[in-house]
Amino acid sequence: MAETHMINGSAVDKRNDLNDLSSKEWIQETKSFFYQKGLGAGSSEAKYEKMHPAPFSFTDITKLIRFFTKQKGKVLDPFLGVGSTIKACLELDRDGYGVELSPKWCEISKQRLAAESNHVIDNEHLVCGDSRNLKQYFEKDFFDFIVTSPPYWNILDKKDHKAKERVLNGHDTKYSESENDLGNIEKYEKFLDDLTGIFLSCHEILKPGKYMCIIVSDFRHKSEFYPFHSDLLNKLIDKRQKIFFQLKGIKILIQNAKKLFPYRYPFSYVENIHHQYILILQKKK
Ligand SMILES: C[S@@+](CC[C@H](N)C(=O)[O-])C[C@H]1O[C@@H](n2cnc3c(N)ncnc32)[C@H](O)[C@@H]1O
Repeated sequence: MAETHMINGSAVDKRNDLNDLSSKEWIQETKSFFYQKGLGAGSSEAKYEKMHPAPFSFTDITKLIRFFTKQKGKVLDPFLGVGSTIKACLELDRDGYGVELSPKWCEISKQRLAAESNHVIDNEHLVCGDSRNLKQYFEKDFFDFIVTSPPYWNILDKKDHKAKERVLNGHDTKYSESENDLGNIEKYEKFLDDLTGIFLSCHEILKPGKYMCIIVSDFRHKSEFYPFHSDLLNKLIDKRQKIFFQLKGIKILIQNAKKLFPYRYPFSYVENIHHQYILILQKKK
């Protein structure tokens, strides 16, 4: 029998230097899928999440942070949005950091963390800037875990029914007007290259042996289907570019509560994309 010690009520194997989970909890989290768990529209905590055009639920992020870090571990989200990752870190006693380009979302993150987590965040932990400059903001081998959901190219800026719904609800249909915003890049290839450059910097500021999870979805643009998750992956684990992330798995986040739309019925197959991919990458030891 392996020796264990008690951490927050869990019997943790003494050899486990990744997280604070018991063997049973660890194994449960290795399933290749899970169901998205939103807060529910009526939840008072959904107020700030709803302001942003594409937030992720901090409850989903909590699962990943619990698996990939120990208490006090340093966690970065390079596309912070309205602060969901830092909020999850505060709840789990992790040291959360974020970078966000738009001053509007930085300000809303600050308000959210003060209102929901009673926490005043400093400029070292919330950098209002461009993630292309990550290596100027943070030291090499600094983070225990990086988790994020980047812009999905410029798909927010469409004139479709989802955009109309956002406008009707008084929500933004773009992250910002900045030319540095990855969501405002015109060409898909340039967008992929810039995003790959940012994830390469993430590789440098992540500690050896530690993990990065990227949450992405495939999408359609002008009736063309873009397999974004595999396009990105091909760039990130391309050996010729000497990018040394190792792909450790792809978890499917099932969004079973999303509304179904009868796109192109009864003429052709157009998918209701109701899942996201969590790309799980590890920096070599
Ligand atoms: C998909 S959203 C992330 C939402 C976040 N997960 C949340 O729960 O709020 C992507 C974010 O990336 C930001 N962004 C776009 N380009 C950026 C850049 N170059 N540097 C840093 N942030 C950027 C956008 O303003 C947007 O808030």
